[in-house]
Amino acid sequence: MNATPEPAPSAQPPAQPSVPVDPSAEDEARFVAWLRQVAPYIHAFRGKTFVVAVPGELIQAGRLNALVQDLSLLQAMGMRIVVVHGSRPQVNEQLRLRGVEAAYAEGLRITGPVALECAKEASGEIRLDLEAAFSQGLPNTPMAHSAVRVVSGNLVTARPVGIVDGVDYQHTGFVRKIDVPTIRFALESGSIVLLSPLGYSPTGEAFNLSMEDVAASTAVALDADKFIVLAETAIEGADGVLHGEISEADARQLLDSGALAEDSAFTLRHALRACEGGVARAHVIPFGIDGSVLLELFQHDGVGTMLVEETLESLREATLDDVGGLLALIRPLEDDGTLVKRDRALIEREVGNFTVIEHDGVIFGCAALYAFPESGMGEMACLAVNPSVQNRGDGERLLRRIEQRARAAGLKKLFVLTTRTMHWFLKRGFVVASVDQLPAGRKNLYNLQRRSLVLIKNL
Ligand SMILES: CC(C)(COP(=O)(O)OP(=O)(O)OC[C@H]1O[C@@H](n2cnc3c(N)ncnc32)[C@H](O)[C@@H]1OP(=O)(O)O)[C@@H](O)C(=O)NCCC(=O)NCCS
Repeated sequence: MNATPEPAPSAQPPAQPSVPVDPSAEDEARFVAWLRQVAPYIHAFRGKTFVVAVPGELIQAGRLNALVQDLSLLQAMGMRIVVVHGSRPQVNEQLRLRGVEAAYAEGLRITGPVALECAKEASGEIRLDLEAAFSQGLPNTPMAHSAVRVVSGNLVTARPVGIVDGVDYQHTGFVRKIDVPTIRFALESGSIVLLSPLGYSPTGEAFNLSMEDVAASTAVALDADKFIVLAETAIEGADGVLHGEISEADARQLLDSGALAEDSAFTLRHALRACEGGVARAHVIPFGIDGSVLLELFQHDGVGTMLVEETLESLREATLDDVGGLLALIRPLEDDGTLVKRDRALIEREVGNFTVIEHDGVIFGCAALYAFPESGMGEMACLAVNPSVQNRGDGERLLRRIEQRARAAGLKKLFVLTTRTMHWFLKRGFVVASVDQLPAGRKNLYNLQRRSLVLIKNL
């Protein structure tokens, strides 16, 4: 495993601890490592706007409290949260109690006068439950010391669906407009905004809307960074295999193929609509897994489906915006001596030499190419892959890209200086060489103390 670097050729084998490791120290180390691992996401997501669609089914399944705790945590970390709740099962329950059958056409509820009363009642109740849940602050719970303000109101303007193919949808509506300035103002003042699946028309009527329509329209109107829909399941193919990440083009194909269950297709269609409207990412996250929103946002692989414009993990040349991410990735490796120290100013100056692997705004891997054209050689330096995603071929992808760039620059040989990673390079076609074979300009800078090995590969 590459998590344990091989010792430098001159190093003594590490001394074995003579006393058993204290289990609490191990827990502490794991905790610190975990917290550091999520730090890049916290940096990347701070100040970003997330619209979260919470279906009535989640509330019915008793998952509301845990979700509210997780959303409060996100808000405390600086993310701006808009919650849009649904109420489908609750409205159906109200209808059942009144002995009225729920009516649908083309997946939309037909909202007669009784159904509208039920929708208002259900939304009122859910809104109060949500406000109460966000107001918790009991000691010894994740909500201790949290003081979350929830703002809601007449922020959605609606229009009637009308009569379509001979079906009169009555009080069912579509979103016409979202009150963006008021929502932004509330978010900027540190509140969570709560929207119900009801909208009002300029004539003073209320319309029953779908949660997905309200949430997707809000995400587009706010130009949100993420649209998150909690659902019974993430998006699964016909073979039952979860789509962890899906491009917009593949999502369109999947919808056209008709292979998805009706609910998943409805959710995916709105997620796609949000992305097409400019929202950077949409996530469909199963609500049955405890902490699923946190798992999806703070882990590389997550537990849901992420919809992205193009494939998400991108290998590209670095820009000045990546300097912070590069520093976060290589600092620990500099601290343990694996990589040579480079300060921020140097990285800023030389950022054009770097290639990075980025996933959802976070830098997970990097490598740099320094050319010595007079000797036809290039140096690959600062190769690093975040420990949480090592052994998946990212190191290899970075090496291949650096080789391509070196070839494109007309270089004939690539060399590396390494103290701990010799075998990785040997396996990939490098051979051991001597300091004398380095280009003159590099030989002068060779740090005798580090005693790095020189490895060279013909391109
Ligand atoms: C070296 C490094 C970039 C490889 O990245 P990666 O994405 O895990 O690499 P890949 O997935 O392409 O390759 C994984 C393979 O390399 C092996 N490997 C990883 N680190 C190794 C090391 N130090 N020595 C020998 N082999 C190593 C793994 O065991 C795995 O082997 P397998 O394919 O037989 O299972 C990564 O381990 C890293 O960042 N290490 C710390 C920084 C470092 O040493 N940089 C080089 C400075 S010169």
